[in-house]
Amino acid sequence: MNHLRDTSVAIFGATSRLSHALALEYGRLGYAIFLAARDIDEGERIAKDVEIRTGTKTCARKFDALDYPSHSVLVDTIGQMVGPPSVAIVAFGDMGDHSVSKTNFEAARKVLEINYTGAVSICEAMASVFESRGSGSVVGLSSVAGERGRQSNYFYGSAKGAFTLYLQGLAHRLAKSGAHAMTVKLGFVDTRMTYGLESAIPVASPERAARAIVKAQQKKCTSMYYPTFWKPVMSLIRMLPSRVVHRTEL
Ligand SMILES: NC(=O)c1ccc[n+]([C@@H]2O[C@H](COP(=O)([O-])OP(=O)(O)OC[C@H]3O[C@@H](n4cnc5c(N)ncnc54)[C@H](OP(=O)(O)O)[C@@H]3O)[C@@H](O)[C@H]2O)c1
Repeated sequence: MNHLRDTSVAIFGATSRLSHALALEYGRLGYAIFLAARDIDEGERIAKDVEIRTGTKTCARKFDALDYPSHSVLVDTIGQMVGPPSVAIVAFGDMGDHSVSKTNFEAARKVLEINYTGAVSICEAMASVFESRGSGSVVGLSSVAGERGRQSNYFYGSAKGAFTLYLQGLAHRLAKSGAHAMTVKLGFVDTRMTYGLESAIPVASPERAARAIVKAQQKKCTSMYYPTFWKPVMSLIRMLPSRVVHRTEL
């Protein structure tokens, strides 16, 4: 589908397995791919891989979620490098180490900033491009961890919960212009983030997650859970009384 190569997909936080799988999915659909990565060497390796495996045009650029002034500058380069963006995926995230964050506010602040302020900053830069053009999708990877505060991860969880609310508001704002925003509420996916985590709950493959995300984005859904069983699970968890939750180690 070469005709799509004058439009591109920008992925922020491009070095995760999920981002790589998303780049391959969109590359196969004919979109050019712009990869924004903190680790630029790894970003360039992924760009090469996507280019070889899909035949699409790719470009990797350095990106740090906490370097706010650089965000709009970076967004302005996408069009020249790979063609005007039609989808922006905000895929980066950092769970941090909750046991450290509890006693060291600098560590907690980093988790809050990467997952919320950094994510909002890049979403805003992309949203203004899409809003003024009247088309384009902002896709934010959020988490089921943002649906109920729990003692084991409430810094990461609260940042993701705030990001979910932000995306909901952004979707409302953009709807008036013809542009679109979607919240992806992810459960466990097999990536570096979940490596070594013990879980009785099945861990989803990044490739399957990527296919589901692309499908929902193309249908212009505003919100999705992946895996889908997390939707009923989280509605149950949200309803649990505090006196029950407080007896658990959740
Ligand atoms: N895996 C899951 O089960 C799960 C569940 C719920 C939500 N999520 C969300 O899904 C998204 C992808 O996560 P993942 O599981 O693929 O995690 P991952 O493998 O740990 O990847 C995280 C990505 O974020 C990037 N990143 C972290 N801090 C950054 C910063 N300051 N600036 C730029 N990039 C930064 C990392 O870059 P480096 O390579 O430089 O570290 C990496 O590319 C995240 O938003 C995560 O919160 C994942």
